[in-house]
Amino acid sequence: TKGIQVAIDGPASAGKSTVAKLVAKRFNYVYCDTGAMYRVVTLAALRHGLAMDATDQIIQLARQIKIGFKPGEPEQRVYLDGMEVTQDIRQGEIDSNVSTVAAIPAVRTEMTRQQREIAAAGGIVMDGRDIGTTVLPDAPVKIFMVATAHERARRRYVENQAKGIATVSLEDLQKEIELRDKKDSTRAVSPLTQAPDAIRLDTTKLSIDQVVDEISKIIKKTQ
Ligand code: C5P
Repeated sequence: TKGIQVAIDGPASAGKSTVAKLVAKRFNYVYCDTGAMYRVVTLAALRHGLAMDATDQIIQLARQIKIGFKPGEPEQRVYLDGMEVTQDIRQGEIDSNVSTVAAIPAVRTEMTRQQREIAAAGGIVMDGRDIGTTVLPDAPVKIFMVATAHERARRRYVENQAKGIATVSLEDLQKEIELRDKKDSTRAVSPLTQAPDAIRLDTTKLSIDQVVDEISKIIKKTQ
């Protein structure tokens, strides 16, 4: 059978990309991390020395740059104009600026266009903030993943420790996550919100495997 479109949305660090990647693997679908795309635009803007309020120049850049993905372990590799930026887009400077860039309507229009192109063939798991509401409103499976801010901060903290970048305290991580959620939920265009037909999944007390199994069941029922 031809694959379907699976949209996974939710707040920062809810485990979307970890789960989405595993679900894609299980069904042999393509995985697309749309947050990485906004992060690449932000990185490009910073590298060009642009201020975050240089809206017109950021829009121009978003249209010019080439964002690329390649499968990789433990995470997908991300490219900006052919150069790998997988690690660069996860730095704190990107965390604190990406929501500003992602709130620019014309930047969203360009990313949405590219995302629809990637998803057109079906057999896709796409994660982000506005996939079920805006990018793929007809996706037959829509998941809205949530967890308490405390649990999300804790997961990120453990992840950072494993990567050897435990420079930010648990408290500060939670503050950053809450601030980014607030910005993403209150912006004018495509704010983070649950689509009416999305299934809400609270992962606070679930393991990664449990979440993957739950979503897999939903896909099998829908296929
Ligand atoms: O998913 P991730 O946390 O990497 O996303 C980084 C940022 O990109 C989000 O905080 C949000 O501002 C933006 N984003 C978005 N729409 C998406 C995916 C991400 O606005 N579909």
